[in-house]
Amino acid sequence: MKRKVILDVDTGSDDACAIMLAELRKEIDLVAVCTVKGNQPLKYTNENTLRIRELLKADFPVYKGCADGFVSYLVKPRLQRAKNVDAYDEQGNKVHIHTKLFDLPKAKRKEEDMPASLFYLDYLKHCKEKVTIVMVGPLTNLAVALLIDPSIVKNIEEIVIMGGAHNITNVSSSAEFNIYDDPEAAQRVLHCGAKITMVPLDATHTAYITKETSKELRKIDTPASRFAADLIDLRILVHDQAQPLEVKGSCALHDPLCIAYLIDPKVLKDVRLCNVEVSLSGFTIGQTIVDNRFYQEDRNVYFAFKGDPKRFAKIFTEAFRS
Ligand code: RIB
Ligand code: CA
Repeated sequence: MKRKVILDVDTGSDDACAIMLAELRKEIDLVAVCTVKGNQPLKYTNENTLRIRELLKADFPVYKGCADGFVSYLVKPRLQRAKNVDAYDEQGNKVHIHTKLFDLPKAKRKEEDMPASLFYLDYLKHCKEKVTIVMVGPLTNLAVALLIDPSIVKNIEEIVIMGGAHNITNVSSSAEFNIYDDPEAAQRVLHCGAKITMVPLDATHTAYITKETSKELRKIDTPASRFAADLIDLRILVHDQAQPLEVKGSCALHDPLCIAYLIDPKVLKDVRLCNVEVSLSGFTIGQTIVDNRFYQEDRNVYFAFKGDPKRFAKIFTEAFRS
């Protein structure tokens, strides 16, 4: 039975890989893709999503979402945000892990007229079957819908969130980007009452992807597999220079790990039901505070402390063979 999925993205390089994995795997029925600001401003994350849809010759609808979060940066303390640490290719050119616009043809088909948050309200109010929502960018779109009508949670099978951090952070010394970018939205979603599985940096960094995978994808030699290989090689270049993982020549491919979990839950290891709260102020703003004590209350999140690199690489590569 195919699993109905709505994917919420801030299309950057790993979001693109999540869209491709969800579209190409037969276990997933990709109902819709919602876009949000994050890795880049909304106009770029939305256009990149449309371009990936055309690369795949897919026909899922795209709903454009929020261009800013609940609390804009203007009032947030100016934290020591991780600068987009620069990395350089062999020719000495500066490279960014999320290019503004993908080097793909401008999208011909545009997004739907309905904004993403209204799509959530409309779809979740009327759908006959529960749906899984996979959020791999800031959680603003769904948080807005939940503010308007919290009862929509009854038709949500599970929310899988790429976000959060226990021992490994990125955007600041205490936070991961998707949660940091809109912490109020994240706190609201984490307490909406749905089953929540969180795939934090602790899991994505241990489920690392190596050049073996990009080589395999180039052997498959389709437009999508070649583009995915390019994205992986770019990410490996940046990770090696700016955020090295336990294995040199590897990258965290955060977002598609959430899709891989829907295909084979064993791709996440050491998953514990914990209380997770989001810090909303001060230097820890955006931190996911994970309660690991034996005795604790309000266990609201299945938090994955590790990932399985071999299992993930197999699930990802197989999708492109089909
Ligand atoms: O911190 C990693 C997350 O932030 C990933 O989803 C990446 O695409 C960015 O959105
Ligand atoms: Ca993302």
